[in-house]
Amino acid sequence: MGWGWVLLILLFGVGCDAPPKTPAALDLPVYFTADINGRLVPCGCFSGQHGGMTRLRTVLEAEANAAGLRVDVGDALSGTADFEVIQYRYQLQAFGDLHYDALNLGHREAGLSAAQLRELAGKSPVPLVSANLLDAATRQPVVAPYRIVERGGFKIAVIGVLDAVGLEDRLGSGLVVEPMESALGVLLPKVRPQVDLIVLLAFTDEPGMARLAQQFYELNVILGGRVRQPAQELKRENRSVIYFTTNESRALGFLGLLLKGPSDFSVQGNEIRLLHDRIPEAAAVVALAKAYRAEVRTARLALDDPERLQADQVPGVRTAASYVGSESCLTCHPEAAAKWKDSGHAHAFETLARVDADADPRCLSCHTVGFGTPSGYRRELGAARLTQVGCESCHGPGSLHVRQYQGDTSVSFKVRPLGEGDCRKCHYGEFSRPFDWATFWPKVAHGTKAVPPAQP
Ligand code: HEC
Ligand code: HEC
Ligand code: HEC
Ligand code: HEC
Repeated sequence: MGWGWVLLILLFGVGCDAPPKTPAALDLPVYFTADINGRLVPCGCFSGQHGGMTRLRTVLEAEANAAGLRVDVGDALSGTADFEVIQYRYQLQAFGDLHYDALNLGHREAGLSAAQLRELAGKSPVPLVSANLLDAATRQPVVAPYRIVERGGFKIAVIGVLDAVGLEDRLGSGLVVEPMESALGVLLPKVRPQVDLIVLLAFTDEPGMARLAQQFYELNVILGGRVRQPAQELKRENRSVIYFTTNESRALGFLGLLLKGPSDFSVQGNEIRLLHDRIPEAAAVVALAKAYRAEVRTARLALDDPERLQADQVPGVRTAASYVGSESCLTCHPEAAAKWKDSGHAHAFETLARVDADADPRCLSCHTVGFGTPSGYRRELGAARLTQVGCESCHGPGSLHVRQYQGDTSVSFKVRPLGEGDCRKCHYGEFSRPFDWATFWPKVAHGTKAVPPAQP
């Protein structure tokens, strides 16, 4: 054997048995959200609100590393009403503009019908994924079960699942949920050999995530979820790292991964970032919210149909009184009227109009009288009747009370006494500064003197 052979063996001999060349290690920042709950923009009911996809955009846009992974774990939708689905389409556009890689289906999305989900997925700029939400007819996943993305030569599978628990009576028509475990049991052996990293978007609670990690060694990263609070710390379980977030778009999850090879990675950093009120709201998303409001303004929605509202009422429990409007109360209650006119309540509809939200059904219930009930405010009334937080927003429908004091002796109606609980129907959560009766009531308290009914 001559020197030439030795040289050849030295040059190529080792190389022949070596595994395929792995790419250089890759910094992979992973950003994830969950439970955005329709908050394209915060409602603006008081200043200092956190979150909104507006702020999500500002933060992600400032992010230099474009190679990152961006995913949503589910419950981006706020509900299954027609206007909420319209808004979801604008949210999908916002996710697309933010270069999200995949959106998992949560419980709210699973309340849509199979047909709606297929249509949304068909038009979404970002793939919707769910491995265990199935079409009841075909028993096949109703959207893609997973997708594989490539970053710096590494292949990453993003798989979606959602917990069947809690979905029982909310599941949309034409859908069934397969247990997460059985869907993953079939999928993972197929996907694992194709990729370097598996990221599971798991719309489930903490014990659910831990169970999946224990059962499937293939899972590298599990992102949740269906939790009450964002994760306090990174958890490790079996061979997975587990991290989760929630809070209606106020908290953004971040994981800094360093990928080295198949299932070979380390976590360089992790953080749940608060999208606080000092982060500016991105104009591009504000514009999408505006476009949503313009579209719902002219759309014919189910709740515009009074017949339908009537049908929603429980039979036999028909509300006897109907809404007549604050104007009908003012003459007999001048003292209360004067106090009311001076309060913010009397201008609550103009407040909505100022932000173009006066036709947005998500805003009307607290800024008008009786919205969503048969005799209450309807959108086609515009600014004409039953607008503002009127007398009847608190005291209830007043037709019988008015008839009684106008001299109809056949009516004997007692206006219900009110208290703090009646304020909290509107003053709660993100819709109000923390409500405190002792400081709020004095600002709107009104006289008790009614002028005796004028004799006709
Ligand atoms: C659950 C009831 C409720 C809903 C729904 C609601 N609001 Fe409000 N809104 C309130 C209450 C209560 C206040 C007063 C809060 C306070 O004084 O702390 C308010 C105040 C406001 C204000 C005035 C804020 C200020 O600083 O003066 C704006 C603007 C507003 N809401 C916009 C909206 C928009 C837009 C929507 C729909 C996306 C909406 N609201 C939905 C209850 C509601
Ligand atoms: C025709 C005159 C008249 C009109 C219109 C009228 N009220 Fe009254 N209201 C009265 C009188 C009189 C009383 C009894 C005052 C008393 O007993 O001291 C009363 C009492 C009340 C009370 C105290 C609780 C009760 O049942 O005694 C409330 C609350 C009230 N009215 C709200 C309203 C509201 C809201 C409207 C508009 C929907 C309205 N009123 C329209 C005359 C009127
Ligand atoms: C039907 C929904 C609703 C109910 C019920 C309601 N509020 Fe309000 N409240 C609002 C809205 C909307 C605003 C914001 C009005 C605006 O500025 O446009 C508001 C604003 C206020 C404000 C700040 C504005 C001002 O005039 O000082 C106070 C205080 C207040 N509410 C107290 C109360 C109290 C006390 C109750 C219960 C007795 C109550 N509210 C019940 C919807 C409601
Ligand atoms: C934000 C909620 C709210 C609004 C709006 C409101 N009220 Fe009241 N009203 C109350 C509460 C709370 C009380 C005190 C508790 C009670 O008497 O039930 C009260 C008390 C009254 C009383 C006195 C009842 C008594 O004990 O003598 C009258 C009359 C009355 N309101 C009429 C009106 C009229 C008229 C309007 C519209 C111009 C109006 N209210 C708007 C919440 C409201």
